[in-house]
Amino acid sequence: MKKIDGYSKLSKDQQMNWLIDNFFDGDKTVKDEFAGYLHRNPEIQDDFDEFAENTITNFYLPLGIAPNFLINGEMYALPMAIEESSVVAAMSKTAKFWLTRGGFHTEIINFKKIGQVHFEFKGNVEKLKKDFPTIKASLLEDVEYLNINMKARGGGILDIELVDLSHKESHLFQLKASFDTCDSMGANYINTNLEELATLIQEKITEEAYGAKPYIIMSIVSNYTPDCLARAWVECPIEELGIQNGISPQEFATKFRKAIRIAEVDPHRATTHNKGIFNGVDAIIIATGNDFRAVEACGHTYASRGGEYSSLTHCSIEEGRFKFWIDLPLAVGTVGGLTQLHPLVKRCLQILDFPDAKKLMQVVAVGGLAQNFAAVRAMTTVGIQKGHMKMHLLNILKHLEATEEEKEYAIHYFKDKVVSFTNVRVMLDQIRTNHSTPKNL
Ligand code: MEV
Repeated sequence: MKKIDGYSKLSKDQQMNWLIDNFFDGDKTVKDEFAGYLHRNPEIQDDFDEFAENTITNFYLPLGIAPNFLINGEMYALPMAIEESSVVAAMSKTAKFWLTRGGFHTEIINFKKIGQVHFEFKGNVEKLKKDFPTIKASLLEDVEYLNINMKARGGGILDIELVDLSHKESHLFQLKASFDTCDSMGANYINTNLEELATLIQEKITEEAYGAKPYIIMSIVSNYTPDCLARAWVECPIEELGIQNGISPQEFATKFRKAIRIAEVDPHRATTHNKGIFNGVDAIIIATGNDFRAVEACGHTYASRGGEYSSLTHCSIEEGRFKFWIDLPLAVGTVGGLTQLHPLVKRCLQILDFPDAKKLMQVVAVGGLAQNFAAVRAMTTVGIQKGHMKMHLLNILKHLEATEEEKEYAIHYFKDKVVSFTNVRVMLDQIRTNHSTPKNL
């Protein structure tokens, strides 16, 4: 493959031809294959093309629905865009389990986002710190014009702090600004404010008055939002948990709590544990057009806030009650960005009854908690493989191009046998070389 200049300037067709010539030996049927995933409505495809650069086609993910979620007394069906088998089924099972035990409860703990102007300052630090309250008041006044719309919606810039990081890196300081971005995720709005603040401090902190001007390094939103926090929990008297695969409710509750404790104290387990939580979280985040990279990065930082990576969920057993909860920082939006542009995101938000950002945070936290409950419940009772294996089997059968008849037989055959790629292939080979239909076996 030769280096190519100006790839982005080529038409979609030319981009595709370059790809086909360089990676698929000029096979035009591959071009048709890619084109097969384009949307039949050219206007919608134009929107998709504009989401990102050099778009040649669309990349599909399954969109599933997990129904029967009772959250704060209201029923929800959760839209989930995810490719991993068993996740949607596990969520639906957990929803049903808690439906008869009071459902899920949620609250917003706080709702504040952060942006930073990073700069070096080699002037009179003491004077800067002393004068900062006056500088801050005038900064807030000067960025007022950028905040009119957000203020009218009930939000806006909340505060600006001067943070001294010079003990970590010579001369390093930052303006740490906080914002209420209402129903938008708010990154653009925050970045606009920050860049203006960066210009303003260069004007206000002069060489004459402070011995040096601030040297701006960069201005950017922080994806770590520990003060934009949703809590979700489930609770019930222990005996209401019922018998779990032959295990008494008391033993199940104790074993479950120990499993959570392991994730609290061991980063290896915590990583897998939290990965499962993000199975539920990311699927809803993607379906509602939000930024799963930001949400994941934030969640993992929050999970490390005590100095060691730990569990995002917690469990208690007190006075005969089982309680299981999650605190999850979530910077999400229900207006702006993809929410108005992606046709399926619009429909997913409709399925959730057009939530505001706070409601979506709570629904997403429930998704994470439900997924974790499903995984830990399975692992501490029947084991994780039982649920996974049917889906796994179906995927293997699909890969081996099994007929409907062969599939039906395989599901029955593997009920009490170990599912592995080799075992499934051997079974199919037997059927196929004997030229016998499964029914004859
Ligand atoms: C698999 O995608 C997720 C689990 O490993 C989560 C967990 O171990 O808690 C089942």
